[in-house]
Amino acid sequence: MTIERMGVIGGGLMGSGIAEVNARAGLDVVLVEVSEEAALAARGRIQASLDKAEKRGKISAEDVAATMERIRAVSDLGQLADRQLVVEAASENEQIKLDLFTKVGAILTDDDAILASNTSSIPIVKLGAVSGRAGRVMGVHFFNPAPVMKLVELIPSLTTSPETLETMRGYVSEQLGKQPIDATDRAGFIVNSLLVPYLLSAIRMYEAGYASAEDIDRGMVLGCGHPMGPLALSDLIGLDTIKAIGESMYEEFKEPLYSPPPLLDRMVDAGLLGKKSGHGFYPYS
Ligand code: NAI
Repeated sequence: MTIERMGVIGGGLMGSGIAEVNARAGLDVVLVEVSEEAALAARGRIQASLDKAEKRGKISAEDVAATMERIRAVSDLGQLADRQLVVEAASENEQIKLDLFTKVGAILTDDDAILASNTSSIPIVKLGAVSGRAGRVMGVHFFNPAPVMKLVELIPSLTTSPETLETMRGYVSEQLGKQPIDATDRAGFIVNSLLVPYLLSAIRMYEAGYASAEDIDRGMVLGCGHPMGPLALSDLIGLDTIKAIGESMYEEFKEPLYSPPPLLDRMVDAGLLGKKSGHGFYPYS
């Protein structure tokens, strides 16, 4: 099945990027946010990202305009009714996602429509169970920034049908031109299972006063050849998102290495969420 009409729920860091990737691939996109204001802000984020790509010579001015025309940003979930695929990228909060899967599962009119989640850590099987279409629910985990990063993790749950997995594999690799890898439905999938304990260890090291943020990051960039150090990467991902992923992983495995350190809790309480809020381990103006 070729997907022509898709929807994205949530237009934050990931949702706006996922909407952009789909529209650039020629799909018709409906993006749903919590309010008209948030929908407008999501459109603004996509426009800014496309303008940046144009400046770098990756896309022409005509294609920027055509891409924006393929995206409708709204605040009404009902506008998703005719979609063949919806990718949910709302905040990493289980109750929000359960509510969305309950509602959107009933809104989609096509029985074959697929409802996917970009969640980093919430069990896919739970989202399927409330959707009324468990066979057509799975995880499709993009990486940040979605327009640039090639990887997508595909996560079928115990109840996902093999046809759904194969449709999504074709969509990701042929329509979006990304590289899928297969993971099973356990918190963190492949990449975050390895990455999150590393980021939390760096935060603990900084919290203990062991080294400065700059030196921790420089250590991993220059010593290990990483493109970015762990604290700068945490700022890019969003500290609230890392805390939520750590909590889900801790709940699932009860391993202390997944437990968010107090400094991370305090920074999130203070609204220091990283790049998206203008301040995290580093300031962003
Ligand atoms: P974010 O905080 O930037 O954006 C979340 C957006 O969801 C907000 O704009 C919010 O208004 C919207 N939202 C909340 N409830 C909603 C609802 N009921 N209906 C519609 N929109 C709603 O978060 P981010 O980083 O974009 O994360 C979104 C999802 O993507 C999470 O599940 C996260 O785990 C996952 N993810 C995040 C990555 C990252 O690097 N930040 C990487 C891969 C996945």
